[in-house]
Amino acid sequence: MVGIITDTTAISKVMPKTNSLTYRGYAVQDLAATCSFEEVAYLLLNGDLPNRTQLNKFKKNERSQRNISTNHNQIIAKFPKKAHPMDTIRTSVSYLGTTEIAWGNEPVEADMGRAVDMIAKIPTMIAADFRYRNKKRRIPPRADLSIAENFFHMCFGKVPSKPVVKAFDVSLILYAEHSFNASTFASRVITSTRSDIYSAVVGGIGALKGPLHGGANEAVMEMMKKIKTPKNAESWIRRAMLNKDLIMGFGHRVYKNGDSRVPTMKKCLEDLTQWSGEDKWLGIYNILADIFINEKGIYPNLDFPSGPAYYLMGFPINLYTPIFVMARVAGWSAHFIEQNANNSLIRPLSSYTGKSQRKVGKISERK
Ligand code: COA
Repeated sequence: MVGIITDTTAISKVMPKTNSLTYRGYAVQDLAATCSFEEVAYLLLNGDLPNRTQLNKFKKNERSQRNISTNHNQIIAKFPKKAHPMDTIRTSVSYLGTTEIAWGNEPVEADMGRAVDMIAKIPTMIAADFRYRNKKRRIPPRADLSIAENFFHMCFGKVPSKPVVKAFDVSLILYAEHSFNASTFASRVITSTRSDIYSAVVGGIGALKGPLHGGANEAVMEMMKKIKTPKNAESWIRRAMLNKDLIMGFGHRVYKNGDSRVPTMKKCLEDLTQWSGEDKWLGIYNILADIFINEKGIYPNLDFPSGPAYYLMGFPINLYTPIFVMARVAGWSAHFIEQNANNSLIRPLSSYTGKSQRKVGKISERK
């Protein structure tokens, strides 16, 4: 399904002609430059940026809900270690949904509370799973840290320097929302049946996992690791173009002349390159992007800079798409609330291309 407008939304606007994106009317690059992920999550859920009192209340509420139950921790510890962290976070959110009876047609305050609860707990679940699969004890969340700082703390036991935390926070802002992308649309379809917010988020996670959508940030880094050095990049991409291979992190269903979020995330990658002193990923980035844009007219999407940026931050590759979940839960939840406020079951029609109607014969007569 391409280019079909299925409904209205007041949450975000993607403007492919100008390569721009707004959340509730604010340009995403301005939000990334001046706001925290917490402010943006509040904006997406409530429609306006918070004033100081509203932000403090939101942060206090979110920070007070970061702990997960002992039962939940035990379940995470028992997940098969070969499972991808996207499968474990999908199951973990699903478990959270069993701890509360929730339906779609409840007062908005109840779902707003559940959305903040998921924004608070999803990083804890992802970090606990990361620690357990590496045979380490989990590190409980701290209530004196921002969402970005706390995630580093729960994964590694320390918070890195300000530019690294800022780059991570910016990535969460850029990943938080993107109108009717595949996972959000999947979420809205689930919402439209009057199912609950947890089911809508679980469905969103399932759709996000695929490498044509959120899974691309992991695929980008796997690809860059195969290329190894900037020296190999040109011959690698020329071979890939000859073979008509899919180059991960390039192309977009809506933006055809560049992804609005890329310049901001590319700047983060440059800052991280300077901070770490490791410049090969940025070198590979520049060569692949120059050649693919010039020769094919296909531009990088957000996953292209975010993959190597997360690598330089020290995260294992299989955590990149779960990090996307940490951010996108704000968008999915905003869409759940919007869809519920004016709901109509989403049930498209299809054009049938199968056999024309025929008789059911006896089994002995079948070929
Ligand atoms: N690598 C190689 N070729 C690509 C490409 C890529 N990443 N993205 C698009 N193309 C090619 C298509 O194969 C098509 O070629 P054709 O005309 O010979 O058939 C042409 O460019 C036009 O494709 P288009 O219609 O613009 O793409 P789409 O809207 O069908 O697909 C994506 C969009 C995102 C699914 C696709 O670009 C893709 O798979 N990208 C890689 C995965 C990725 O980074 N996903 C994250 C998206 S945010």
